[in-house]
Amino acid sequence: MSTHIGAEPGEIAERVLMPGDPLRAKWIAETYLEGARCYTTVRGMLGFTGRWNGVDVSVQGSGMGMPSASIYAHELVNEYGVKSLIRVGSCGALTEDLQLRDVVAAIGSSTDSNMNRMRFDGLIDYAPVADFGLLRTSVEVAERRGISMRVGPILAADAFYTDRPDLYDRLADYGVLAVEMESAALYTIAARFKARALTILTVSDHIKTGEKTTSQEREQTFGQMVEIALDTIIA
Ligand code: HPA
Repeated sequence: MSTHIGAEPGEIAERVLMPGDPLRAKWIAETYLEGARCYTTVRGMLGFTGRWNGVDVSVQGSGMGMPSASIYAHELVNEYGVKSLIRVGSCGALTEDLQLRDVVAAIGSSTDSNMNRMRFDGLIDYAPVADFGLLRTSVEVAERRGISMRVGPILAADAFYTDRPDLYDRLADYGVLAVEMESAALYTIAARFKARALTILTVSDHIKTGEKTTSQEREQTFGQMVEIALDTIIA
């Protein structure tokens, strides 16, 4: 096992979906994967491996925020040989032209996190981006499934509760669609260790209007997003 994942070598597939919530990982495994088996319960951050259309796929909870997601992405890639990671999660919309329950694929991720500033000694503003192949496939899959999906840049924020909503407005002026809390770290770690990564999100709340989805609505749109992610990761 690695420091934070209790799997034996070979128990995790090369293809991994990463929801923040470990109970979402369980729900995805039980709802979609054939023969799903739990391979870790360390810290309650559940992980499962099963098959989607005959291909081995794992689902690993990442926790909330970039420090937590970084730990799981790092160990999956470096200790278990994971090659492709798709984060499936929720986001807050920053722009009026996104609506609750819309699906968003993050082409790139701005961040207020200090992690990449430290990596580059504060000298470079590194631009974390999605893997182009995964992104292109996800767009094709969404079209084939008749699910409309917005592709655009997002913000990965350290804080869920912000004192600077004015910065969200400014980012929206620059085309940033939504805010979540993990994508910049996922994209950076995948790039550093030669893996592929993508983030697909559903809009759970609207920062501008204050609207929020119900848990029932979240489950329904979460399902559509997971189907896009599963078809994409096995393609
Ligand atoms: N902020 C950050 N992350 C989120 C949000 C939000 O409003 N909604 C869902 N994930």
